[in-house]
Amino acid sequence: MSQRLLVTSALPYANGSIHLGHLVEYVQTDVYVRFRKACGDDVTYVCAADSHGTPIEVNAAKAGVTPKAFVEKYRAEQHEDFRRFGVDFSTYYTTDSEENRRWAYRVYDALKAKGLVYKKSVEQLYCETDRRFLPDRFVKGTCPVCKTPDQYGDVCESCGTTYDPRDLVEPYCAICRSKPVIRTSDHAYVNLRKPEVFSVIEGWVNGEGHLVPSVREQVKGWLADLQDWCITRDEPYFGFPVKDPDFAGKYLYVWVDAPIGYLSSAEHYFAAEAPEGRRLAPAEFEARYLAPGAASRMEHFIGKDILRFHAVFWPAMLWATGLKLPDRMPVHGHLTVNGEKMSKSRGTFITGKTYLDSGLDPELLRYFYASNLSPGIYDVDLSLDEFRNRVNADLVKRIANLASRVHALVAKLPGELSRPAGVDTGHDLQRAAERAVQTARDAYRELEYRTALRAVNDLADAGNKALQERKPWEAPDSAPSRALLYDLTKALHAVAVALAPVLPRFCGALAAALGDVPLAWPEGFTPFDGRPVRFAAKPPQIAPVDAKQVARLIAAAPEAPKAPAKVAKAASPSETATKVSAKAAPPPPGVIQYDDFARVELRVGLVKAAEKVEKADKLLKLAVDVGEPEARTIVAGIAQAYPDPQALVGRRIVVVANLAPRALRGITSQGMLLAAGEPPNLSVVTVADSIAPGTRVK
Ligand code: 2FM
Ligand code: ZN
Repeated sequence: MSQRLLVTSALPYANGSIHLGHLVEYVQTDVYVRFRKACGDDVTYVCAADSHGTPIEVNAAKAGVTPKAFVEKYRAEQHEDFRRFGVDFSTYYTTDSEENRRWAYRVYDALKAKGLVYKKSVEQLYCETDRRFLPDRFVKGTCPVCKTPDQYGDVCESCGTTYDPRDLVEPYCAICRSKPVIRTSDHAYVNLRKPEVFSVIEGWVNGEGHLVPSVREQVKGWLADLQDWCITRDEPYFGFPVKDPDFAGKYLYVWVDAPIGYLSSAEHYFAAEAPEGRRLAPAEFEARYLAPGAASRMEHFIGKDILRFHAVFWPAMLWATGLKLPDRMPVHGHLTVNGEKMSKSRGTFITGKTYLDSGLDPELLRYFYASNLSPGIYDVDLSLDEFRNRVNADLVKRIANLASRVHALVAKLPGELSRPAGVDTGHDLQRAAERAVQTARDAYRELEYRTALRAVNDLADAGNKALQERKPWEAPDSAPSRALLYDLTKALHAVAVALAPVLPRFCGALAAALGDVPLAWPEGFTPFDGRPVRFAAKPPQIAPVDAKQVARLIAAAPEAPKAPAKVAKAASPSETATKVSAKAAPPPPGVIQYDDFARVELRVGLVKAAEKVEKADKLLKLAVDVGEPEARTIVAGIAQAYPDPQALVGRRIVVVANLAPRALRGITSQGMLLAAGEPPNLSVVTVADSIAPGTRVK
């Protein structure tokens, strides 16, 4: 049955350009939205520019424009960048809107009416030159622990210690570098420990289907030590002034009105932007999408860095306002480039524009991301070599090539091609296609895109194999060849349907080439409908990606390191890089490059169960949560070191997560664990309890 959904991605700050790190989430969400629409669901995909807060106010002033003009410039630019990557929002609005102002006041009033808001006086650093309180990121100084200079007010990037900005040694204002003073100010706090609201948050966190287990555990850890939440800021600020006379002169903190932007942007879409037949007045929109018990799903896609706001504060705000709580909150990890955090100085901070200017097709990035995405909080690594290899192997050589070969053969046959009755080609492509489509359908719904794409590739492999074995070009008009080509053309329809959420443009062109076949994906879909086939055009091709093209992503990054002046005279920065690497001595035998190491996916795993393997003295069978929906089974030769397997339960171990599965004593082991020493003097490698299952070890 068709469902109604309101799907959101996090609202990017209107304070900069979209980069490849952002795109992980928007691609993940867009693939889901396109998939659900193809299944016949009624999906509205809402996003907006997050337009408030201190950095925007400060940067607008620096740019000499009003904050309104500043955010509108980025909003429009971001929307266009997303569009070019195929991200198809229903609306890309702004949190600085009248609708959002109305909603924000309503939520504030609701929190107050529930008796959750109270006043507290707080000490903060204040810059007398700029005449403003300094948020953590606007004060710098020397780390009180490791003494590294120039650290932000909340965390030392050198030793990782978190602290209060007042603890910094020799603090200075990041805007004007003068020394701040300590001042007090009264602020509104929300008491989240009040039993009625706490039980709502806890109930939501534990609710079926809201969070994957590893994320749920992390949020439960926060609930165990829940702090009240400060929801106001002092002026100057770009945001909504608080109307409550108890907090005159204060503004609502950006993180209050940001998620509210999901609701107000959706309301705006239905009232003003939706096609005529879909328009809804605000009250109708609320009844249909937001009222408790509404027959509609609300799903928020977010990154792991903003989980606390969404999983703790947001349910409390919705509940206080009398609205339904989210039905699902998929959380993804961050993007690394070549195994490391994106970095301006290394030239790996790649904006959407840099990618587009390199001439690479945006759909290739969508494909690469999707082929690395699953519901756990894993970081996605854009290894540039892997990107090139993956695209070339899967899309160019396997999928587009199959389409082109089949077309070349079918085009030679006269008229339409029907399947000759009763021919067994020896390759059950109908079964393979139907299985692939069903696997992919289940997988997309669960955000297991890796699995969905593997199924599509397996189907294309089966098609290529059948061609190779049956060689229909040797007797093109024979019944077996005609049957095979018919099956292959139908299988290509299955490929187009199952790949369309990820590669909408390519699959649109493929469907057109197949004679305008539909890309709809109803339950039980099969392309084997008995209708004759005929190509209407050549299928689309995908040009292989070469190393130079990919290298342009980095060379062209906006703040790639400049070559030292002396060298720059002799050569451009990219030439210099080539020369330097050409001259570098090859690594000694046995020494690997970082990329080699990065290929091994080490992840933290929480041991959920452990038992002896029957008739195998050395083996234990473990169930290990590595941040995926299902625990993995891992068989390890550690039984002699752990005579009581229960001793392992609850430990956080390190697992090689991308090792091909292998059978040990009839049990398939889905990974390997790290251990030091030889049995019985052997110890499994463990990490601290604060590290969530699924976290990458590097
Ligand atoms: O972290 C960020 O980029 C925020 N602008 C995300 C806001 S998401 C939602 F709450 F609006
Ligand atoms: Zn200052």
